[in-house]
Amino acid sequence: MRVLLNRTSGAAMAVLLAATVTACGGGESSSDAEESAANAEASASDNAADNTEDAVPGSMEEAEAAAEEARDAAEAAGDAASDAANAAADAASDAANAAADAAGDAMDDASQAASDAADAVREEAEKMEDAAEDAAQGAADQAEEAAAAMDEAVTEAAASMGDAAEKTANMTAGASEAAADGASSVLASLDGDAAAGKRVFVKCMACHVVQEGQNRVGPSLYGIVGREAGSVPGFNYSDANKNSGIVWTEEVLFEYLENPQEYIPGTRMIFPGLPSEQDRADVIAYIKAESQ
Ligand code: HEC
Repeated sequence: MRVLLNRTSGAAMAVLLAATVTACGGGESSSDAEESAANAEASASDNAADNTEDAVPGSMEEAEAAAEEARDAAEAAGDAASDAANAAADAASDAANAAADAAGDAMDDASQAASDAADAVREEAEKMEDAAEDAAQGAADQAEEAAAAMDEAVTEAAASMGDAAEKTANMTAGASEAAADGASSVLASLDGDAAAGKRVFVKCMACHVVQEGQNRVGPSLYGIVGREAGSVPGFNYSDANKNSGIVWTEEVLFEYLENPQEYIPGTRMIFPGLPSEQDRADVIAYIKAESQ
């Protein structure tokens, strides 16, 4: 029985080998499988013969029986191998058909999918085209609106600039008027204090006194308010001062004393002036009071 098992497993190997060859080889493989089966049969017989020789010597009947069994087994193995080969070929052919069908189906599916995708792309492109058209239209509208808004803004700006120019003109006119009577209005709003003015007059005392008829470096300032420039008796004036045509009103003194050399260019009075409006108002009040 061990011998038979060995033979059978050898044949089975051949069958397997044949099936594998068939599966791998496709169409031609069924003849290969048959060949393999034949080989398997031959080798099974050889094995059987070998095994027979190895069997217990001296018992010819047993050996012949074993050989018979071996031959039968080899035949059976050959048939099995041939069946297996046929089955494998059928299976391979079925598989090939199935694969072909599947491939065909897959191709159909793929082409359907591709066509669907193409449709989708077309749709998408159309949508994008529409969107682009919309966007362009929107941009054009916006540009138009912006242009209109700018036009409006420019018109408004021009109008308001016109207004502003008018206002500026008015203001300039007003300012000139204000400047004209600025000095008097400033002085009028200031309350000149003679006592405070006495302290300010210390700055003038290097060159002036308020006593009548006493000229120093500068002429006496007695009764100077309301007097014509360059008219104090006995004083040697500069031409600039003498010919200025000025009448020393409080308002004129108020402006003159801020910067004498600017008010009468060429004056001999070398004095930087009184920047403080209050000081000027006070010193004028003092001179007026001392002149009474
Ligand atoms: C450095 C000397 C000096 C000082 C300081 C000085 N003065 Fe005179 N002032 C003169 C001289 C000189 C003249 C004559 C100017 C001329 O002839 O050009 C004069 C002229 C004047 C006149 C014009 C007089 C006229 O009859 O036309 C007035 C007003 C006057 N001074 C006011 C003042 C007052 C007010 C101060 C002080 C805040 C002052 N001065 C300070 C030298 C001075």
